[in-house]
Amino acid sequence: MISTGSNAALAGRPEGLEQLRSLLDTALGALGDAALKRGGPVAAGGPEAAVAAVGEVLGGGRFLAEEPSAERVTELFEAYARWSVDLTHPSAVARMQCAPTAASAAAELLAASLNQSLHAWESGPFALELERRLIAEMASWVGFGPEAGGTLTPGGSISNLMGLLFSRDRALKDSGEVSATGLAGRAVRPRVLCSAAAHFSVARAAGFLGLGRSAVVKVPVDDRGRMLADEARRIVEGFAPDEVPVAIVATAGTTDHGSFDPLPELADLAAEFGIWLHVDAAYGIGALFSPTLAPLLDGLGRADSVAFDLHKFGWVPASSSVVVVRDRKHMECLDEQAVYLNPSDDEALGFTALLGTSLQTTRRSDALKMAATLLTVGREGMGAWVDACHAQARYAAGRIAAAEGLELVADPLLSTVIFRCAPTDGTPVDDESAWNAAVRRRLMTDGRALLARTKIAGPDGTPRVHLKLVFLNPMTTEDDIDALLADVSAAARGLAREAAAER
Ligand SMILES: Cc1ncc(COP(=O)(O)O)c(C=O)c1O
Repeated sequence: MISTGSNAALAGRPEGLEQLRSLLDTALGALGDAALKRGGPVAAGGPEAAVAAVGEVLGGGRFLAEEPSAERVTELFEAYARWSVDLTHPSAVARMQCAPTAASAAAELLAASLNQSLHAWESGPFALELERRLIAEMASWVGFGPEAGGTLTPGGSISNLMGLLFSRDRALKDSGEVSATGLAGRAVRPRVLCSAAAHFSVARAAGFLGLGRSAVVKVPVDDRGRMLADEARRIVEGFAPDEVPVAIVATAGTTDHGSFDPLPELADLAAEFGIWLHVDAAYGIGALFSPTLAPLLDGLGRADSVAFDLHKFGWVPASSSVVVVRDRKHMECLDEQAVYLNPSDDEALGFTALLGTSLQTTRRSDALKMAATLLTVGREGMGAWVDACHAQARYAAGRIAAAEGLELVADPLLSTVIFRCAPTDGTPVDDESAWNAAVRRRLMTDGRALLARTKIAGPDGTPRVHLKLVFLNPMTTEDDIDALLADVSAAARGLAREAAAER
C-alpha cells in the first residue's frame, strides 16, 4: 500500500471506515463540548478572536502540511465547532440559516463519503434518480404538472439566476437563440420587473445574463415591501416598442418583512402580456408547509418558474436550493452532449444523467439530505415547525411593542420581526442609527446574541438602522425570547450610558 507518512485513509475502505467512526466520535464530542464552552450562540471576542483562533490551530504551519497528522484534524474539528455559530441557540436569530435535522446531517456524511455526482450516469445512478423524483415532487408542491422540470442549485441566488436565464431565452428567442448567438446587435431593450424590496440577486443575475442591471425596473412597494400590482401594470403598459419585458420577478417572502407580492394579480398581468413570471420563494416557501400560512402563496402554481430554499425554512444544511419550471422545455439552453459524459447511444439505452439541467458539471447530491429531513419531519411536522417560528415572531413582536425603549415596525407576516432601540428619558442618544448598529455589534462581540440589521425609513422618510430577528428554530420558547430581548435592552442602555459618560 502507498504510505503517506500519516494514517490518512479513503472513507469507503475498511481502514477508512474505522477512521471515520473514530473521527465521527471526535466530531460529535466537539459538537457537544462546543455548546458548553461557548455559553452563547457564538464564542465571545468578535472578529479578532476568530482570526486568532484559526491562527492558533494552524500554529504558524500550513494546510498542506510538511508533517501530516490526524491529530491536527481533531484539533481543527474542536476549534471549528467551538468557533461556529450555534444555530440551535435561541439567540441566534440573525440570518436565514436554519439548524439542520440530525437525519440531514447524517445524510451529509453519507453523501460526502460516497461523493456521488449527477453529471454522468456512472457517477451516481441512485443519486440521479433520487433528485429526479424529488424535483418531480417539489414541482407538484408548487402546483406544477408532469411537464415540469427543475434542478437543485447551490442557493436561492443561483435559483433566481436560472429562472431569469430561462425567461431571457424565451423572451428574446424571436431574434435568435441567445445561448447560440449572444445578445450583441439586438435592437431591443430587455426589461425585468421586480419590486424595490426584491433580493439583490435578481439585479445581479440580470447583470450576469448580459441583460444589464439597468434592465431591472424596480416596482414601488407598500409600507411592508409588497409590490404594488397597479404600478407593475402601469410600467408594463408604458413600455416603448423596443422594450421587451423578459420577466416579472415576484417575491414570496421578502428578506426583511417576509411579505408576499400579490401573486394572483401579477400572474394575471404576466398572462395578459405573455411575460415570464418567476417567483422568488427562497424564504417564503415555509408558508407552503403550514395550512394556516399557505394562502399567502395563492397563485404560486401560475408561475413559470419558482425558486426556493430548504436551507432557510426547511431544516436542511446548505446548499439546498431548488428551481422548478412549469415546462421543462424551457430548460433546453442547458442541453449538452459531451462525448465523454453522455454519448447519445448510452442515453438511448437509459444511461442518462442530469448534466442538461444544471449550470454545473460535477455536482454533489443535495437530494439525500433534503429527503432525510422531509422523511423524518413529515408534512405535518414541517407545518408545525413553521407555525412555531411564526408564533415566536408574533410573541416577540408583542413583547417589543410593550417594552419601553424598543420600537416595533410592524406585526410579523412570516417569521421576521423588525424593530429598533429607541431612546428613553434615561438614555439620550446622539445618533440613533449608529447606536442601533453598535448594539448589534456589542451583542455579537459578547457572544450573547446574533441579530440582523436593515434600514427602514423613519417618519421623515430617511432610512434608519433597524434590528431584525429571524425565527427559524422551532424549539425556541417564550422565555428564550424574553431573555433575548432583555439582552438587547441591556446592551442598548449600557452603550447609551457609556456614550453619555464620554460626553
Ligand atoms: C428573498 C430571498 N431570495 C434569495 C435569497 C438568496 O438566497 P441564497 O443565500 O441561498 O443564495 C435570499 C437570501 O436571504 C432571500 O432572502
